[in-house]
Formats: sequence, structure tokens, C-alpha cells
Amino acid sequence: MSEANEHGRGGGGGSVGSRYAAAGRGDGVGSPPPLEARGLHRTYRGVAGPELHILRGVDFSLAAGEAVAIVGASGSGKSTLLHLLGALDRPSAGSVLVGGTDISTLNAEQSAELRNRRIGFVFQFHHLLRDFTALENVMIPSLIRGDAPAGAKERAAELLHQVGLGGRFGHKPRELSGGEQQRVAVARALVNEPFILLADEPTGDLDSETSGDVQDLLFEMKKRHGVALVVVTHNRELAAKAERVLRLREGVLENV
Ligand SMILES: Nc1ncnc2c1ncn2[C@@H]1O[C@H](COP(=O)(O)OP(=O)(O)OP(=O)(O)O)[C@@H](O)[C@H]1O
Ligand SMILES: [Mg+2]
Repeated sequence: MSEANEHGRGGGGGSVGSRYAAAGRGDGVGSPPPLEARGLHRTYRGVAGPELHILRGVDFSLAAGEAVAIVGASGSGKSTLLHLLGALDRPSAGSVLVGGTDISTLNAEQSAELRNRRIGFVFQFHHLLRDFTALENVMIPSLIRGDAPAGAKERAAELLHQVGLGGRFGHKPRELSGGEQQRVAVARALVNEPFILLADEPTGDLDSETSGDVQDLLFEMKKRHGVALVVVTHNRELAAKAERVLRLREGVLENV
């Protein structure tokens, strides 16, 4: 496919012993999509009030390299859905499949490994580690994966160059602007060559000019690295950059 990863990194990940490791990027003929949700429900038990039934049967499929924006009113359950798609939370009913593997069949360790290797996250607030430099923050997921520090450093440096921060390797998060912090977060999300990028209001905390720059960066990096993107946003400009826009309303996704 045209957006295939130009670095020739396959999705096979043959060195990993776990079951999901055989799942590819979902871009081969007949291979499963990178991400799928079937009949997702999520209820929250109210401590004092009634049970909240937030997601009421969400079906969703993401094609390899595709960009989908999810919009919806505040409180409609967008973050809840993104957390389920990223294996950060478990549905009350229904299933999430990453590269064809039902994540409910994974134990905690396998689930963490899946997030580390297959999914990159970018949140509204960057969640960078404050005591580490930009370069170290980007290296961390790679070190967690067990990569040799020299290789992790080389890849992190290359990514920081790609996001326009070649001159900021040694800066701690507090020494970076909001836009720069988000750029580091984008680089960190990509360091382990995931095939899915999940972003929750990635520009929600930025002024409009910086927001536009980070949006452009997100889409440029998506294309360059051949990842599929799900972005949750209230920002129309950002949503319009996606190939498909879905609205979460009354617990289900509808086409916009
Ligand atoms: N852990 C939780 N326990 C109980 N209720 C929760 C929990 N997390 C979310 N909720 C409730 O679920 C609903 C959906 O929350 P969610 O954060 O997914 O909304 P959202 O669409 O992302 O909103 P926003 O656009 O403001 O970020 C809200 O009413 C919220 O109060
Ligand atoms: Mg939210």
C-alpha cells in the first residue's frame, strides 16, 4: 500500500514469543485490520447515583494506515472508548481486537507488552516524565521493550529530528514549550514502531497556531511511519484532516 512504512519495518515482530506477535500491520491481503471493536459496552457503577451506561454497543474497524477522527459532546464517552481501544481499560461487554487478537485473552503482562509494541498514545497533557530529558523520554518505551540503549538512543534522536526538535535533546519537559512537549510525546509514541496511534485531544492544551502545527506534525508522522490513527477531538480543523469522522452519540458511533 502507498503509505507502507518506508523504513521497511515489518509488523511481524518475530522475536516476541507472545501470541499476538504474529499479527501484522493489517495491510496484507486477507490480514485482519489493525484495530476492531465489536459490540462494546462500558458501564460505570455510580457510588451514590445510578449506574452509567456510557458505551452502548460500539462497532468500529480501522484500516491499516487510515486516520479516523472521533468527535462528540463532552461526557459522551470518547476517552472511555479510546481507553478501551488502547487496552488501558476493559469493556463491560464486547471485544477489542488488535491485529486480530482479542485483547481480553491477554494477561496483564501480555496486555502491557501489546501497548508497548503495537500502540502509540498521545494525550492532551503530554505525560512526559519530568526528571528525564526529551531524548530519554523518547527512549523509555524502547528500553522497556528491551532494546539496547545505543539503538534506543539512535532511534529516539532520529525521531526528535523528525519532529523538529533536533536542538532540544537535553531539555527537560519544563524547559520546553507546550507545542514542543507534544512533539516529544509524538516522537515517544512512535519509537517502538506501533501500527496504531491513539490520540486524545492531542492539541487541546495548545493555542490555535501551535495546535495547527502539532496537527500537521501528527499527520505527517502518521504518513511517514505508516501507522493508523484514531484521534479524539473537539477541534473541527483537526477532525477535518482525518479520512473519516465518526460521532459518539448516545453510546454508539455514527458516521458524520
Ligand atoms: N472511572 C469512571 N467512573 C465513573 N464514571 C466515569 C469514569 N470515567 C468516566 N466516567 C463518566 O463517563 C462519562 C464519559 O466520560 P469520558 O471521559 O469518556 O467523556 P469524553 O467524551 O471524553 O468527554 P470530554 O470531551 O469532556 O473529554 C462521563 O459522564 C464521566 O463522568
Ligand atoms: Mg475525554
